[in-house]
Amino acid sequence: MNAIEIRNLTKSFGEKQAVCGLNMTVPMGAIYGFIGENGSGKSTTEKMICGLIHPSSGEIKLYGRDYTDNDVRSRVGVLIEAPGCFPNQSVWNNLILQATNLGIKDAKKEVIKALKMVRMEGAASNKYKNCSLGMKQRIGIAMALLGEPALLILDEPINGLDADGMRIMREVLTDITKNYGCTVVISSHILGELEKIATHYGIIRHGRMIREMSATELENSCPTYVALKARDMSRAKALLNLKYSRVIEADGYLRVYDAGSSEEIVTYLYENNILVSEIMTDKISLEEYYIDLMNEKGGDR
Ligand SMILES: Nc1ncnc2c1ncn2[C@@H]1O[C@H](COP(=O)(O)OP(=O)(O)O)[C@@H](O)[C@H]1O
Ligand SMILES: [Mg+2]
Repeated sequence: MNAIEIRNLTKSFGEKQAVCGLNMTVPMGAIYGFIGENGSGKSTTEKMICGLIHPSSGEIKLYGRDYTDNDVRSRVGVLIEAPGCFPNQSVWNNLILQATNLGIKDAKKEVIKALKMVRMEGAASNKYKNCSLGMKQRIGIAMALLGEPALLILDEPINGLDADGMRIMREVLTDITKNYGCTVVISSHILGELEKIATHYGIIRHGRMIREMSATELENSCPTYVALKARDMSRAKALLNLKYSRVIEADGYLRVYDAGSSEEIVTYLYENNILVSEIMTDKISLEEYYIDLMNEKGGDR
């Protein structure tokens, strides 16, 4: 069974179709990276999954049941936009208030657990307004974790975080899925960061899912290349172009996509009096994959 199965989902706001026949499959236990440019329909889709707004048409199944099913609804935690916190109250009080609102019986125990999960045990007495952005985002996640959800929907939770904030968030999200069996949908356009944690990806454009794949499938579909530096880059490039069909310059390196091996390239250039000063093999990143896909789909609408 999948955590989320969406078929043919549509949402219109008046004339504007924000989501148009979207399909989406999120396996249980996944960290699902939901990727798309601004205005592509990520937040609208997430709001529908959480029942915050209603679809114009289509089907949303959560754990095999319709998304309106009460049992299933109560197992969805959500962070869309900033958490509704009282700035002058402590982190602890804010969470206790939320737990009480949700009707959680042992509020203290749940709050302690949620704070621990987001690495905020030490900051419970801080006033909310004095917390850093990274801490605020984690408080939002702690709120979403109250009531032990099976599914967490997080809308752009890593926007604006510094390197340290990103690292803690990465640990928290991995921990939530590995040790608590939660499934997480996380929308973001910070692809380098997403690539470190996501097990699955969905790429949305103009309200349609244009590609879904697992991290393994992405890994297998990303071409490897040999990147090199030589003293005379333009001569090296001209020579490589004679032998290989795809040679491009990127980040100060020459990339050869259809190379047999780096030895073959070094030998070839050496035989033509060009010395290679640096060489490595690498794969294209999620970001590059995404840009290529967008260019390929450029004319679609
Ligand atoms: N409440 C609304 N009323 C009218 N248009 C909306 C509303 N919410 C979103 N939209 C429009 O729907 C499209 C998708 O928005 P959104 O889901 O927020 O995209 P994303 O989260 O990917 O940036 C955008 O063009 C946006 O302007
Ligand atoms: Mg959005």
